[in-house]
Amino acid sequence: MSEKHKVPSHHGAGETIGGPFPNETMRLLIDRASCRSFAEKKIPEDVLEMILEAGIHAPTGGNLQPYSIVRIEDPEKKRQLARLCGEQSFIATAPVDLMFCIDWYRSKRWAKLEVAPFTATHSFRHFWISFQDTVIAAQNICTAADAMGLGSVYVGTVLECFPEIGAMLELPDGVFPVVLLSLGYPKVRPQPRKKLGLNMIVHNEAYRKCEDRELLDAFNEKYPALRIQVTEDRLEQIAAVCRRVHGQEFAEKCLARIKENGYISFVQRYFGLHYMADIMPEGNDRYLKIMEEFGFNWFKEYTPVDNSAEQR
Ligand SMILES: Cc1cc2nc3c(=O)[nH]c(=O)nc-3n(C[C@H](O)[C@H](O)[C@H](O)COP(=O)(O)O)c2cc1C
Repeated sequence: MSEKHKVPSHHGAGETIGGPFPNETMRLLIDRASCRSFAEKKIPEDVLEMILEAGIHAPTGGNLQPYSIVRIEDPEKKRQLARLCGEQSFIATAPVDLMFCIDWYRSKRWAKLEVAPFTATHSFRHFWISFQDTVIAAQNICTAADAMGLGSVYVGTVLECFPEIGAMLELPDGVFPVVLLSLGYPKVRPQPRKKLGLNMIVHNEAYRKCEDRELLDAFNEKYPALRIQVTEDRLEQIAAVCRRVHGQEFAEKCLARIKENGYISFVQRYFGLHYMADIMPEGNDRYLKIMEEFGFNWFKEYTPVDNSAEQR
């Protein structure tokens, strides 16, 4: 690649705006950012259809397309979703929300109508690929939306309200909501976020375990000024999380490190205050139960029909 076409592997706000991208596609992919502030402007139907078309042309295992996309434009439904997904108000202000779902219901009906065998909802293999298919279609739509001058943001907190979403969108057995994408014309162009660079993410031929210093430098470069102020409440919360997860001695070590630094570091905030390490693994069993209620049981032993009597 010529010098002219070298693009930075990671960047912060302002560093590469109008930068040396070899073409518009590369600019869209590298200069992108999530958009959470939408103008009050309707997305024309032909524009939305074109974007959705780009989604359904994404790669998909066996070309099976085991996913569905539920378009949500009804203001009351959007408000309800915003509330359910953790009071994220942009979900209500976005002109369109798209719910991406794994969909084995359609294939099951197809198999039934054509008298074909079907076990996809009992199969981890099928689950694994269909999850990827769903997300890959979503990302095609995300990029297509950018290409059409729109902005978008994923909403992962649908996982806090699977049953409510299932009921609201009338999802049949075998259809499982994965992620929401809020879509609209940006009020202001969002600025790209810093990313870890290629040296951290890409490994040549085999996984490279970097040195501690290199790892710390990489994260410090990504989150340079993110030192969180120490407050009594925060200290108490981090200590409680540490204690529950790794015990008293670790909690004391964590508090000592905070005292020594004079601030709460980003990773301490990330897993101690925000995505709390004690709470995150909670409810694993409940999620399996929810999956089962949606008609999935790939995590259970599969017992095929017993034909032994007929074979004897
Ligand atoms: C699976 C997934 C779930 C996400 N969930 C949320 C969410 O619930 N709320 C939100 O504001 N952003 C959400 N995001 C957006 C991320 O916060 C965002 O991608 C990240 O901060 C990096 O910023 P960038 O997209 O501008 O590069 C999600 C992104 C992904 C990929």
